[in-house]
Amino acid sequence: MILVTGATGGLGHATIDCLLTTTPAAEIAALVRDASKATDLVQRGVDVRQADYFDYPALVQAFQGIEKVLLVSAVAFTDRVSQHRNVIDAAKEAGVKHLFYTSIQRSSDFVMTEVTESDLATEAYLKASGLVYTILKNGYYFEGLRYLIGSEVPETEIRFPAGEGKIAFIKRTELAAATAALLTSEGHENQEYTLTGSEAYSFHDIARELSALAGRPITYHSSELAPYIAQTVAAGFPEPVANFFAQWGAATQHGMLAGTHDTVERLLGRKPTSLREYLKTTYFPGT
Ligand SMILES: NC(=O)c1ccc[n+]([C@@H]2O[C@H](COP(=O)([O-])OP(=O)(O)OC[C@H]3O[C@@H](n4cnc5c(N)ncnc54)[C@H](OP(=O)(O)O)[C@@H]3O)[C@@H](O)[C@H]2O)c1
Repeated sequence: MILVTGATGGLGHATIDCLLTTTPAAEIAALVRDASKATDLVQRGVDVRQADYFDYPALVQAFQGIEKVLLVSAVAFTDRVSQHRNVIDAAKEAGVKHLFYTSIQRSSDFVMTEVTESDLATEAYLKASGLVYTILKNGYYFEGLRYLIGSEVPETEIRFPAGEGKIAFIKRTELAAATAALLTSEGHENQEYTLTGSEAYSFHDIARELSALAGRPITYHSSELAPYIAQTVAAGFPEPVANFFAQWGAATQHGMLAGTHDTVERLLGRKPTSLREYLKTTYFPGT
């Protein structure tokens, strides 16, 4: 039986949607912390189990009879490492054989606080646990673009501190499909995969595509970090949030999210969504 954590969140829920297309519901379990958000899963025959990552005894109970766990990583700024350690230890105690962990794509020379920092600690802990592991280094979601450029088409300009850096964006549903394919196939013991789009795009590329779609010039201006943070705070975001957005800019500038890998393309059997397709359907629906 395969258990997916974070099953009421975007990636976990979409992974279960994909699993249900190939695997009987009786072989799928979902870990949630609020069962009232999982009624659709219950209706579809998924075995919904309740536990918080901070609640060790509940985790051990929830993992009974499970062979493979997909640990969907906890959110930033919530002591991710303690939560992940709990899940790994509880899985081991309950007799789980194989744990998949959703890390994020990274480069060797850039450590991002709260993100790659806690992934590195989690991965080291998982590797030392004795469980069979598979590490999924997920690319930056296309859906996260709205945090970087806004959810409306910019009037004339994108300002973001990413320099000439690129991102190999990937849609979350495509990550979910690739993850479900890995969970249901053999040969991934103690492997690491970087799951990204097939192409990486700079913010100049984003501006160029938006200009073509909008029919007016939109340009990209790379800000320095400090003015970007000040401008984001002035737009109404709390300073820690503005700092966090800025960190993604610095990570992009360092190339942390730029590497392209063909694993998703191979698992999907087609090219993942391109920048133009994503922008068209998201920012220009119905055109
Ligand atoms: N690659 C990227 O671009 C990117 C972007 C954002 C995040 N991420 C990472 O990838 C993960 C999955 O992304 P997502 O889009 O699916 O995020 P999401 O929609 O926020 O889902 C996170 C899931 O984790 C569950 N969760 C959080 N804390 C928990 C706890 N203490 N105990 C039990 N469950 C807990 C949430 O439960 P509730 O439904 O009850 O809240 C939710 O189901 C994120 O959590 C984050 O680590 C990656």
